[in-house]
Amino acid sequence: MITSLRLVNFKTFADEELTVGPFTVILGANASGKSNIRDAFRFIHGIGRGYTLAEIMGGKYGVGGQIEWMGIRGAPNEIVRFGQGYPLGAGEFTVLVELNLDGEKVRYSITVGFNLDAPGGFHLLAERMLVGERPVLGSVVSEQDGRFIPEVRPSLTRTFADRSPDDMRSRLCSIFESIRFLELSPERMREPSIPGAATLGDSGQNLPTVLEVICADPNRKRVLTSWLQELTPMDVQGFEFPRDPGGRVHLQIVEGNGRKVSAYSASDGTLRFLAMLTVLLSDKAEGIYCFEEIDGGIHPNRLWLLLELIERQTAKGGIQVITTTHSPALLAWMNDTTFEHTSVVYRDEYWTDSAIRPIAGLYNLRELRKSTGMERLFTSGWLENAMAFSEGEPDTDHLDDDGETEE
Ligand SMILES: Nc1ncnc2c1ncn2[C@@H]1O[C@H](COP(=O)(O)OP(=O)(O)O)[C@@H](O)[C@H]1O
Ligand SMILES: [Mg+2]
Repeated sequence: MITSLRLVNFKTFADEELTVGPFTVILGANASGKSNIRDAFRFIHGIGRGYTLAEIMGGKYGVGGQIEWMGIRGAPNEIVRFGQGYPLGAGEFTVLVELNLDGEKVRYSITVGFNLDAPGGFHLLAERMLVGERPVLGSVVSEQDGRFIPEVRPSLTRTFADRSPDDMRSRLCSIFESIRFLELSPERMREPSIPGAATLGDSGQNLPTVLEVICADPNRKRVLTSWLQELTPMDVQGFEFPRDPGGRVHLQIVEGNGRKVSAYSASDGTLRFLAMLTVLLSDKAEGIYCFEEIDGGIHPNRLWLLLELIERQTAKGGIQVITTTHSPALLAWMNDTTFEHTSVVYRDEYWTDSAIRPIAGLYNLRELRKSTGMERLFTSGWLENAMAFSEGEPDTDHLDDDGETEE
């Protein structure tokens, strides 16, 4: 399980740490830096996929030019935090990940240099992995004729072939690789799927075949339909998976009165729930799932049920869920464990940098939370004020004498 993610000079973060739990909620206003955290998780996922640094950042294309991996959001010179003191187009950032693997503390850190003039732009500056206090990976610096050869691939994956699967480095790779980023699109969920496609795509593709696999197990089917009945106003009894002449699999939802609703006419919210349920009720033992804006398209009345489902499933220990939201309403319903793993990302107009703070550490929020009116407290902007106050004076170093932001 990942327990924390620290970002140094990465996008809006000068040096900030996110506490990660079974279910991690990242709360924040627009442009506060929530998705920049997601981008950092995509970066470590890219490492797990074995890509070079340039591929992780810029994208990876397969034969025929089709895209295998979308690079990290933003232009290459926008990954390193602006205003680091470097000329634009050069700099470095560090990402540090802490994990708990079967009770053992594992720390991994990677520092990446960026130079617009160098081939590929990105190169490895330092990399380290500790299991407890024991180093199992250090930077490999290559030299030829006394000249430093910039490494373009993380050491973690570079010598992968000669490691056994239970090697801690291999385990770390597969954990990074297991991170999934779901940005569900109702349009993609409505598409019929190709028989045999058993993994839900990041936009929700393959929903019919993924559901068909779940429904083949009566027990899992029962759990899934009962959650769906709770989450939607539909009286869902089951599903059918008709084939079209081309062999593609379609989805139909069967209601209690025998009425069948095709995926084409099912509501966006219903499809979203269905896709999330297939993920959360999957029988996979491990995995880390990042959801963008979990509240999107879901009625507030149902949101708390979804929250309960995620809390219940992540408490079992197999999967971790990380979500961004700008809905403080979530705070009113979450359990104590989730509350302790909820952070607010904050950036005020004076700062270019974002701060990440566990909300439990803000004033007497632990007590306030027990009292009523939580939701109002947050929608009224109290949270932002509390954050600004706890940070002290705004950092004005980057302002010139006129109070204007320097270029
Ligand atoms: N390298 C960088 N240095 C400083 N700020 C950055 C950098 N890259 C992006 N940003 C800023 O991050 C903000 C977007 O943050 P984002 O995480 O997408 O917000 P949200 O909380 O809405 O998801 C933008 O205002 C953008 O200017
Ligand atoms: Mg965002």
